[in-house]
Amino acid sequence: MKNKYTLGMIGLGTMGRNLLLNMADNGFQVTGYDKDARMLQKLEEDGKAHNLKGFESLTDFVQSLELPRRIMLLVPAGAIVDSVIQEVVPLLDKGDMIIDSGNSHYTDTSRRAIELSDKGIHFFGMGISGGEEGARFGPSMMPGGDKTAYNAVKPILEAVSAKVNGDPCVTYIGPGASGHFVKMVHNGIEYSMMQILAEAYDLLKNVLGYNNGQIFSTFEKWNNGRLKSFLLEVTRDIFKVKDPKTGGYLIDVIKDQAKSKGTGKWTSQVSMDLQLPIPTINESVSARDLSKFKTLRVALSKALPHQQTKVEDTAAFEVQLEQALYFAMITSYAQGLHLLEQASAEFKYELNLKEISQIWRGGCIIRAVLLEDIYQAYKKQPELPHLYSDESIQNQLKEIIPGTRNVVITALSNGIAIPCFASALTYYDSLRTENSPLNLTQAQRDFFGAHTFERIDEEGIFHANWNENN
Ligand code: 6PG
Repeated sequence: MKNKYTLGMIGLGTMGRNLLLNMADNGFQVTGYDKDARMLQKLEEDGKAHNLKGFESLTDFVQSLELPRRIMLLVPAGAIVDSVIQEVVPLLDKGDMIIDSGNSHYTDTSRRAIELSDKGIHFFGMGISGGEEGARFGPSMMPGGDKTAYNAVKPILEAVSAKVNGDPCVTYIGPGASGHFVKMVHNGIEYSMMQILAEAYDLLKNVLGYNNGQIFSTFEKWNNGRLKSFLLEVTRDIFKVKDPKTGGYLIDVIKDQAKSKGTGKWTSQVSMDLQLPIPTINESVSARDLSKFKTLRVALSKALPHQQTKVEDTAAFEVQLEQALYFAMITSYAQGLHLLEQASAEFKYELNLKEISQIWRGGCIIRAVLLEDIYQAYKKQPELPHLYSDESIQNQLKEIIPGTRNVVITALSNGIAIPCFASALTYYDSLRTENSPLNLTQAQRDFFGAHTFERIDEEGIFHANWNENN
C-alpha cells in the first residue's frame, strides 16, 4: 500500500469525488480521504469500474501516496481549509505538495503558501469551474503558485480538463495566489452574466408579456447564435421544467431572493481597493443583496406604483434585447479582464489574458462562443489596453449599441430595474467620453479643501483662491 498512488484527494463531496473519478477514467492511480464513511462508500460505489478506494485514516492515506506527495483539497473554503492543513502537515515530508481547489479567498491562499513554504511544503491555490458535471467530465482549472510544483501535476490536470479544439482548459496562471484570484474574477463575471440573463427574463416577461414557453423559445433562438453559452443554455432549460407539486412551471414557485457564497462580493471589494471599476459586476452583487428586502419591496411596490406602457413592435424589441444582452456580456468580460490586468501589475501575478480567455472557452461556467473572439483579440494584441480597444469588438459594439440604448430607455421608462444593462451602457459611455465633467470634481475639491488640481495648458500642481476670484 505504501507510496502507491499518484494523487490523493481530501474531501470526497460532490466535487472531490467527481474529479477523482475523472482522474481514474484517465488512467491515474488515485485515492481519497474523508472523515465521513458515507463519502468513502459513495466513492467506492461510483468508482467500482476502477476499483477506486479511499481511506478513513489520514495517516494511512498520506503513507499510500507517491513521493513527493500530491494532495488535493476539495473542502469548503474558509476555516476548514486551515484545520485540514493543520492535521495533514505533520504527516508530510519536505517537497510534498498541497493543492487547495476550493473557492478560497486569494489572501488566505497567499498566507497559507507563505506559512507552508517555511515548512518546505508547496502550497498551490487552484480555482476549478464547471460544477459537478465539469469535475466529472472536464472542468476548466486555474492553478497558481510555484511553477516547478505545478509541473508535478500538469499531466494530470491537462488530462482531466475540458478540451477546446484539442487545447486543454488549464494553464499555469502565475505565481502566488493568482489561481484563486483569477477564479474569483471568473465568478464576478459569472454573477454579472447571471444578472443580465435575469434582466432579459424580466423584460421578456414584463415588457413583452411572454409566457414561459415563449421565453424558452426566445432563449433557444438566441443560444443558436452569438450568445451561445453555458449560462444561456441553463437559463433556457429552466423554462421547460415543471413543478411536480403544483403542475405549473418550477420557476414560478421559486422565491425571488438570491443567495451567494461571497466570490462576487470579493471581486467587487478588490476592484475598489485597486481603483479599477467593474460597475456591472458590482451591480450584479448588489442586485442579489437588494432582492433580500422582499417585505420592503412589496410595501413600496404598492406605495409607489409605476404605469407601464406597451411596446408596439414586439419583434423589433426582441432583436434589440438580444443586442443588449450581447453588449452586456462583452462588458462583463471586459470589466473582469481589465481588473485582472490591474491586479497582475499590482500583485506581480504575470497574468496572460490570452491564455486565461483560452482556458475559459470550455469547461467553466462562463464558457461562451464570445470567448473565442476575446481569445483572438488577446492573441492578436497581448497588451490590449481594454477589450473595447479591439477592432473586431469595436465593430460589434457599433452594431449593437443603438438597440441596447433603446432597451435601456424602454426599461427605464417602464420602471423596470435593469441595474446591469444600465450600468454596462453607462460604463461604455464613460469610457468613450473624451472630456468628462470631472474637471468640476477637481475644482470642487480645491474650492473647499485646497486639494489642488492640474491644468490642461500647463504642467504642475495648482491651487486657486476661489472666493477671491468670484
Ligand atoms: C463554478 C462556480 C462555482 C459555484 C459558485 C456559486 O465556477 O463552478 O462558480 O464555483 O457554483 O461559487 O457561487 P454563489 O453561491 O456565490 O452563487
